[in-house]
Amino acid sequence: MAEIVRVGITFPRKLLAEFDTLITNMGYTSRSKAIHDTIRTFVNKQTWLAAREGAMVGSITMLYNHEMRELESDLTDAQHHFEAIICASMHVHLSKGKCLETIAVKGEVHEIKRLVEKLKARRGVEEVKLNVFSI
Ligand code: NI
Repeated sequence: MAEIVRVGITFPRKLLAEFDTLITNMGYTSRSKAIHDTIRTFVNKQTWLAAREGAMVGSITMLYNHEMRELESDLTDAQHHFEAIICASMHVHLSKGKCLETIAVKGEVHEIKRLVEKLKARRGVEEVKLNVFSI
């Protein structure tokens, strides 16, 4: 059996409540097991991505708060900086303050990852998801 360690983690209360509701509906009886599975998925994905090289295609989808000052123009600036790998983008106004944007990318995977990191680092960007395929 694998060695087990105990760690203390703090969570925003609302996030933990949402997580607990979800995992209960999925049939989990142990929060620890659900967190192990979640982290395992994250580790697998990041490890897979870190080992990639060469050209890939894919999409970056992000959810952001459009009322955050200067965020929209910052995000546009970042996209202009990476115009060599951006094929197209689609913007959806979800509500008064929220926007969804999907960017189609094609290019060296390390460049795609650099763009993702740039977008993620901005305050007001709530979530960024990357999906890539080898070509
Ligand atoms: Ni919008």
